[in-house]
Formats: sequence, C-alpha cells, structure tokens
Amino acid sequence: MEPSSRIPGFYDLSAEERLSVVKAFAGLADEEARALAGSDGLNLARAGQMIENVIGTFALPLGVATNFTINGRDYLVPMAVEEPSVVAGASFAARLARQGGGFRATSDPPLMIGQIQILGVADPWSARFRLLAERERILAMANRQDPVLTGLGGGARDVEVRVFETSPVGPMLVVHLLYDVRDAMGANAVNTAAEALAPLLEEISGGRVTLRILSNLADRRLARAHCRVPVAALAHEGFAGERVAQGIVEAWALAAVDPYRAATHNKGIMNGIDAVVIATGNDWRAIEAGAHAYAARTGRYTSLSHWSLSDDGYLVGTLELPMAVGMVGGATRVHPAARAALKLLGVGSARELAEVLAAVGLAQNLAALRALAAEGIQRGHMALHARQVAMAAGATGELVARIAEQMVREGKVRSDRAEELLREMRGV
Ligand code: MEV
Repeated sequence: MEPSSRIPGFYDLSAEERLSVVKAFAGLADEEARALAGSDGLNLARAGQMIENVIGTFALPLGVATNFTINGRDYLVPMAVEEPSVVAGASFAARLARQGGGFRATSDPPLMIGQIQILGVADPWSARFRLLAERERILAMANRQDPVLTGLGGGARDVEVRVFETSPVGPMLVVHLLYDVRDAMGANAVNTAAEALAPLLEEISGGRVTLRILSNLADRRLARAHCRVPVAALAHEGFAGERVAQGIVEAWALAAVDPYRAATHNKGIMNGIDAVVIATGNDWRAIEAGAHAYAARTGRYTSLSHWSLSDDGYLVGTLELPMAVGMVGGATRVHPAARAALKLLGVGSARELAEVLAAVGLAQNLAALRALAAEGIQRGHMALHARQVAMAAGATGELVARIAEQMVREGKVRSDRAEELLREMRGV
C-alpha cells in the first residue's frame, strides 16, 4: 500500500523525528536524509562549480507539507522558504482538498519556445511564407543539435512565424521554434537550437538574425490543478462553512477584476510554487516570469486561479499557469539537497513535477483566501512572525517561544517589546 501523506502530529515532532518520518515515507538513503537536513548538503567546492566568485553557501529553512493527494497519489512536499505560515498553509489547505478527493492535475507536453528575431526584411509577409514553406528543413536542422534529447523522444516539433509590421527598429519577424525538452527545463537545448538555426533562417528570409533565446512565457507547457472542498469543511471558529466559502469566492473576484489585488493573490500562489521550485533546484525566476506574463496574457493582469461554488455544496478551485521545470540538468542533479528533495517527492517526470507544483499553488491560494475570508491573515501569521521578531531581537533557544507567546498574548509583536522581554527574561 502507498504510504499516506496525512501524518497527524507531524507538526509537533522534533526536526529529527520529522526527518525520520520523511525518510521512511520516501525510502531515502542516510546520505539523502543528511542532504535534506543540511548537514551533508551543498559544499563549497560544488558551489564553486555552479556559479562564479563563490564565498559560501546560503541556507533557507526546508519544511515538508503534508496531506497532499494529487491524481490519487499521496505526496510529501519539500518547501524551501523563509516566510512563516507557507508550509502550514499548504498542509492545511491540502487537508481541506483531501476531503473532496484531493487535487486533480494535468499538464501539457514539455514544449518550450525558442525565439529568433529577424530584422532588415523588405517584405516580411513573403519572408514568413518562405520560412513556413521550409518548415521541415528548419526542424531537421534543429533536431541535429541535441541527439541525446531527440533519442529520448524530444526535439523540435513546429515552427511559427510572427510578423510585427512596425517596431522601433522597423518591420520585424519573430520565428518561434517549438521544442519538446522532455524532462529538462530546456533553456540550454532551446538556446542551442535557436542559435544553430540563425544562418539557415537568414538564408531563407533574406534578413538579419539578431536575438536567439528561449521565451519564459512557456504557454505551450501549462500545468493545471483542480480541487473541490466540501463547504461544511470550511467552517472555522464561529465562521460557518457557507460564509467562508462565499468569502473566498468574493476575495477571488477582486483579484479577477483588479490588478492591484491580483498581484498579491498571485504572489500567494507563488509562495507555494516557488518554495518547491527552489527545493528541487529549479529556476524560480523563470517560473515567476512565466506566471506573471501568463496572468497578463489578455492585456489586463488578472488572477491565475478561479474559485466558484457548485450547486452540490462544494467550493471549486482551478489554477493554470506555465510550468517550465526539469528533473535533469541545472541544479536539480548537482545540488545534493535538490536531488534528495526530488526523491522525496517521488515524481517520475518533469510533467508530474509540474502537476504537483500546480496543486501546491492552488493549495497555497486556498490557504490565503480562507484565512482572509475568515479570521484575517494576521492572526495565523502573528504567532510565527512573533518568533522571527524575537530571534531578530537576539533571543535564542527556548526564549524564542517564550517571548513570542508573551508578545502575541499582549498583542504587541514589536522589536522594542521583544528586546525588553529578552532583558527581563535574561534578568539583566
Ligand atoms: C503573503 O505572503 C501572501 C498573501 O498576501 C496572499 C494573498 O493575499 O492572497 C496572504
């Protein structure tokens, strides 16, 4: 039987105890567990091979979200994030979604877009026609660039040509190479192919190729998640389930119509997605860029998610966004903790990882909207925020929790009060 991601009391365990639960869940080796714990993670030598001018490594808290069921399978989700309430929120929302059968998620084939800009074309529409007529030749040339990827069933799939009749530098053609990158994020493969095509595209178009680079608006590689939460399950401390569900839909409606709210709403979605993207060694800037560009695809920036109430008593949520993540290449294999995080997730392909990410984003959105619609975000945030304020004031060990609790009790979560309490408790 598959292990369950519903682990009552996980929150109350020590970090060591949690790690051994996670280790057993995913069948991690000792060394993989140590990599997640940070004791055997990224060392200086390896860091020095990843980027330039290295002087050290930079740690973030790594938490594990529980309760996720996605397409009938249970996942423990590694999240690297500095913000309190993100991991707890995801776990809480996943538990709500679980009561409606968990998340369902789908994804497109891993098609990335490589852009090749062509300037100096006298008749761009005729050039477009000639380029499309030579589609097979262009695809064949692109496919000669990465025999490993084509051997795995990936490679160039299609050519599209866009015409900008006017631009600040005159008429412009943009060739889109659609490229199946399989389990890679794909930037290297696509950029290599785009660069290799330049002479051929110049020959066919009669123009001058300038930019050759992947697009982060990966809108051919979307991931989607769906969940249904029984309205009654949303009841919370004196708030009836119906009222919370209605409040969630009303909160979403503001994001749907207003970019000022949509930015915050989508930021909440990305709180969850980025944390997993970082934990698995993927490029979170690429995911952020794709998400926000996709949110603005109609010309007006809007919510990435959608929430409504069904006639049969469910709150129904969906999310769709580009998800250019990989399981091979980049830091996913080089960073020991990222490799172990991928093993913990147990995903078999980049598409499955993309589906998990969409579900986590939807869960994070549900957690934020539920809190906003019920007790407000600050109360849940405060307890964890208070710990950070206490630590920033210099508290260590058990004083962190004592000072935090006292500040929350008093309703004064401030650095001056933390410093005062620290002095009092240390007896100075
Ligand atoms: C905070 O990091 C994220 C939220 O602001 C998201 C939201 O407002 O939906 C709580």
